[in-house]
Amino acid sequence: MAIPEDNPLTKEGVALGKKLYYDPILHKSRQQACASCHIQAKSFSSQPNVLPHVNLGWNHNWLWDGRVQGSVEDIIAFEVEDFFETDLDNLNNHPEYPTLFKQAFNVDNITYVEVEKAISQFLRTLISGNSKFDKVQRGEEVFTPLEQQGMELFFTEKGDCFHCHGSVLFSDNLMHNNALDSLPDPGYFTYTGDSLDYGKFKSSTLRNIEYTAPYMHDGRFSTLDEVIDFYSHGLQKTITVDPLMKKLSQGGVQLTTTEKQALKAFLLTLSDKDFLTNPDFAE
Ligand code: HEC
Ligand code: HEC
Repeated sequence: MAIPEDNPLTKEGVALGKKLYYDPILHKSRQQACASCHIQAKSFSSQPNVLPHVNLGWNHNWLWDGRVQGSVEDIIAFEVEDFFETDLDNLNNHPEYPTLFKQAFNVDNITYVEVEKAISQFLRTLISGNSKFDKVQRGEEVFTPLEQQGMELFFTEKGDCFHCHGSVLFSDNLMHNNALDSLPDPGYFTYTGDSLDYGKFKSSTLRNIEYTAPYMHDGRFSTLDEVIDFYSHGLQKTITVDPLMKKLSQGGVQLTTTEKQALKAFLLTLSDKDFLTNPDFAE
């Protein structure tokens, strides 16, 4: 994980970041906290299209359309300054926060920099690595035959998921057009202005995918069955569809009913209940 030299994780910094994450004081009109939309029981996502906060310390393309790029601090700067428009007076005049910022960052005046550093520290601790998938990798559990079949589909050209949702992060952290629409939403094009980026979105992580419905940038699919049906036979051809969508010309990877069940069974092994209930992450 990339941790900037000027923002190492400290106990005080992480605790302060968590407090801020759950406190509506951060919002200019105190209407909502980060955690109002980013709910732990849903892997820090919620309806309709809130992106989850899981293993984001390894990420660098932010938001569905990639319009913020860079470190965790960079996306948190966007969230705090542009989205929440935090009023720093609310923190500086608070009975508790000045002391907590002094303890964490040794400052007498709270600025955006320290607010963003603290939340970034907390976000970097939101690590999921205790799903059934992880336990099987460590030799602590075994897959059922159906899950095993699903894993083979996932990691081979037959199911063809690993090209974009590969590695232990289950995301390559890149922008792709996965053939959702014949008239795609602009996506990454909004950021780059390059017509070749039209319809590209972030291949978000599949960890805890059981809990982050509905799916895709516009929340169009409400179940994993619908997602699998789409990849099986619902692909829409346009010129910016990723060449990694190998079965585009056939409309999808053409899975049988059993293969679909197997793929779903495998996706469900990415659920990490310890992450969803970890008191270190809770209010
Ligand atoms: C009103 C609901 C809501 C609130 C409140 C909210 N978010 Fe979000 N958050 C979203 C949505 C929706 C997205 C995806 C938006 C997009 O991609 O355009 C998102 C995306 C993000 C992402 C990007 C994740 C990724 O994988 O790219 C981060 C980080 C984030 N939010 C952090 C925060 C923080 C920190 C706060 C509090 C300061 C916050 N959010 C408050 C709804 C919310
Ligand atoms: C060419 C890259 C690519 C391939 C191959 C691919 N995906 Fe995706 N996947 C994406 C992108 C990009 C998104 C987000 C698209 C959007 O929201 O517009 C996505 C979204 C998803 C989502 C929804 C995530 C969420 O948080 O809403 C699921 C579930 C998913 N993919 C599963 C799969 C499965 C299962 C396979 C194999 C059958 C697969 N993907 C193959 C790129 C890919």
